[in-house]
Amino acid sequence: MELNLFDKQVYIDRRRILTQNFGSDGIILLAGNQDSSMNYNDNCYPFRQDSSFLYYFGLDIPMLAAIIDTESGEEVIFGNELTIDDIVWTGTLPTVNEMASMVGLAQTKPYDQIIHYVHKALIYGRKVHILPPYRPENKIKLATWFNTSLDDVTDNVSLKLIKAVIAQRLIKSPLEVAEMEKAVSISVDMMLAVIEHTRPGIKEYELVAKAHEAAIANNSRLGYPAIITTHGQTLHTHYYGNTLQQGRMVLSDIGAENPMHYGGDLTRTFPVGRSFTTRQKELYEVVLAAMDHAIGMLKPGVRYKDIHLAACQKLAEGLVQINLMKGDPAQAVAAGAHTMFFQCGLGHMLGMDTHDMENLGEPYVGYTDTLKKETQIFGLKSLRLGRELEAGFVLTVEPGIYIIPELIDRWQAEKKHADFINYDILNTYRDFGGIRIEDNFLITETGYHLLGKYLPKTLKEIEALKG
Ligand code: GLY
Ligand code: MN
Ligand code: MN
Repeated sequence: MELNLFDKQVYIDRRRILTQNFGSDGIILLAGNQDSSMNYNDNCYPFRQDSSFLYYFGLDIPMLAAIIDTESGEEVIFGNELTIDDIVWTGTLPTVNEMASMVGLAQTKPYDQIIHYVHKALIYGRKVHILPPYRPENKIKLATWFNTSLDDVTDNVSLKLIKAVIAQRLIKSPLEVAEMEKAVSISVDMMLAVIEHTRPGIKEYELVAKAHEAAIANNSRLGYPAIITTHGQTLHTHYYGNTLQQGRMVLSDIGAENPMHYGGDLTRTFPVGRSFTTRQKELYEVVLAAMDHAIGMLKPGVRYKDIHLAACQKLAEGLVQINLMKGDPAQAVAAGAHTMFFQCGLGHMLGMDTHDMENLGEPYVGYTDTLKKETQIFGLKSLRLGRELEAGFVLTVEPGIYIIPELIDRWQAEKKHADFINYDILNTYRDFGGIRIEDNFLITETGYHLLGKYLPKTLKEIEALKG
């Protein structure tokens, strides 16, 4: 079995930068993930290593943990050698020591030794810094290592470590960008396979199968469950049982995770049949204009929240033109009336995680001490990224229009934003569905760079794909 790794120097450098930035302050403890049972002990969910563990220690193997002693410089990987039963059932691997040396580390210990390291550090009054655990198995292990209850385990989470890891992982190196280019290009192949297979009469799950086929044929898998639906108004639906009907659209939001665990996150919306209807074209053009406007604003120093609001304004302008909204678009956006159509945020950071580092805390990934996330305002509370952009960020731009009948009914009954929304006309769109267009960008010193191969996105280009 071949391990997918960068050169060992990459990991040595990443750990050196982490400890340099962190300073001498106790021990950093990173717990890798372990296999997790699905319906009986030996039948596990597909293994996914923790992304920060992958970033600093590279090893895509279950049941490893590592420490960095920021005072002595000691680095240890904890893991157990395979038993003969492991080898009989699942095959062989390099030894823990051999794997550690592949990522530039000399010292390894059996997994159960970690508790002694933690106890010893705590007895001497030293800090043991951990990242927020998101898996039950790791919460249980950390509670044991820290001799604390499950409820209290997060008391040991270190904001200092969170911020240091985020600061480093936010800026993608050229090596990482190269992986992301590959991942997005595979995502493009997946999307093309889905679009080309789309035709009336088949089921949504037949398209999902095409996405998986193209991913697996590229030694990749999906970074998140496919959103492939004729009910595009449901932002993250994972139901695939509908039959594709002439006259409707398919919204396909899919992304590959490549063998190095970098991912793409693309969305296209296209007709079931050969061409869009007039109404579909009109709304598609509104979304595309908002997207192109937002893309044109991408550069260092610009707040993504401002790009989001500018895109909202473009959506509102377009919606006023086709009489779904009325009044002054800027005032409509200030009042939040556009969230009838665009209930979520314009985009998010992308990397090894689709919502990159969301497990470390959106307030620190997408926002800063000076720009806090709005947590109460519909629309803005779902904007995962607001902060000023920097060269090296990788992010998505994904505006949309989503016609949600339940939201229409709720707001109309409350006469909400009746000055800005033409409810009579909107009600004739109740079964429209939704449109999202999503691409992935690297922020450069001067602007932006579209990641991956170009994926058709204009009405003409999309219709041309359908023959
Ligand atoms: N694919 C999930 C998202 O776009 O956020
Ligand atoms: Mn996305
Ligand atoms: Mn997406």
